[in-house]
Amino acid sequence: MAKTTTKKTGASIAELERQRLTSLINSMTDGVVAVDKNFKVVIYNGAALGLLDINHIQEGTPLGDVLKLVDKDEKAVTVAHLVEKRNIATISRDHRISYSDGSLVNLYISIAPVHLGYGKAADQGFVVVLRDITHEKSLEEERDEFISVVSHELRTPIAIAEGNLSNAQLLAEKQLQAPEITGSLQQAYNQVTFLSGMINDLSMLSRAEHNKLTLKTADINVHDLLNELKKLYEPQAHEKGLALHIRLDPKLELLHTSQLYVREILQNFITNAIKYTDKGSVTVAAKSTPRGVTFDVHDTGIGISKGDQEKVFQKFFRSEDFRTRQHNGTGLGLYVCAKLTKLLDATISLDSELNKGTTFSITVPNQPKK
Ligand SMILES: Nc1ncnc2c1ncn2[C@@H]1O[C@H](COP(=O)(O)OP(=O)(O)O)[C@@H](O)[C@H]1O
Ligand SMILES: [Mg+2]
Repeated sequence: MAKTTTKKTGASIAELERQRLTSLINSMTDGVVAVDKNFKVVIYNGAALGLLDINHIQEGTPLGDVLKLVDKDEKAVTVAHLVEKRNIATISRDHRISYSDGSLVNLYISIAPVHLGYGKAADQGFVVVLRDITHEKSLEEERDEFISVVSHELRTPIAIAEGNLSNAQLLAEKQLQAPEITGSLQQAYNQVTFLSGMINDLSMLSRAEHNKLTLKTADINVHDLLNELKKLYEPQAHEKGLALHIRLDPKLELLHTSQLYVREILQNFITNAIKYTDKGSVTVAAKSTPRGVTFDVHDTGIGISKGDQEKVFQKFFRSEDFRTRQHNGTGLGLYVCAKLTKLLDATISLDSELNKGTTFSITVPNQPKK
């Protein structure tokens, strides 16, 4: 009699322990699955079910039946494989779960050896912790891409500027004629201008991404703005043998918005138009609309294919067209433009035909005056 009571109490203590453990691991946000030495499931929590996308795991189910892991090359791997010959915790951030519908989730997975023993003398097993790190992974990838684009784009202009400055120095030392020195200085100047434009894009981008951009409005004289831009970009256009025209609607009135952002957008449109046009012209037009002003930047350049037109406002997008790749660029300019357009309550659009030319347009409404 006494014997059975003891046994019963022992069993319920083990059951109690198990319940406590279950409620403890169920309070965790990471998926937890404990397996025995044969990688059969002993215990698991709700978060694990969520990650594995199933409702229930039968105790004793081989872990490999419910957790389909793949490596970087999408080759199947088993948890047993990952811990082979290791007695310490294994951590990986390079594996993914592959679901039956073909979708994949990036996984943080930690597999630690433990002694699982409800009474049975300390059976060896493993605790597997799973976490969805798809979001972190995409941030990492974006950061890597960013660093690679920026460092690559910085290299060429800095090398050219460096070479030209040292050349100019040499010529000056030898007291050679001025035209050669001015040529070198001009080259160096162009490259440094490109770099400062790029750094401007980057700082605008980082402020836009951190929602740090505010709208400071003022009355803009559109005539003056376009005339200034013409003066600023004419040398670049002429250097490529392109004409730069401006067309102004005589009915234009003052536009009340952010001068800085409108200018930034137009500068992006104009530099792109000059960059991606080899012959012909670039025309910047402004016309009055019921709510504000529409600006068009038209060029007779390489054009943008229908497929690319959908992507030009994406971060880092640059066309695969070899004529695009002949020029420096980060693929950030139009992305920044799209961000600024939102802040201005403006609308942006483009019309383009491959090998004929492109028109980028932005319609900017008047902001309410405070
Ligand atoms: N006026 C244009 N003519 C042809 N292609 C253009 C023009 N403007 C933009 N594009 C295409 O859109 C892409 C994205 O433009 P942008 O974000 O300014 O990047 P970037 O100028 O650094 O390449 C360019 O790489 C190019 O493929
Ligand atoms: Mg650009």
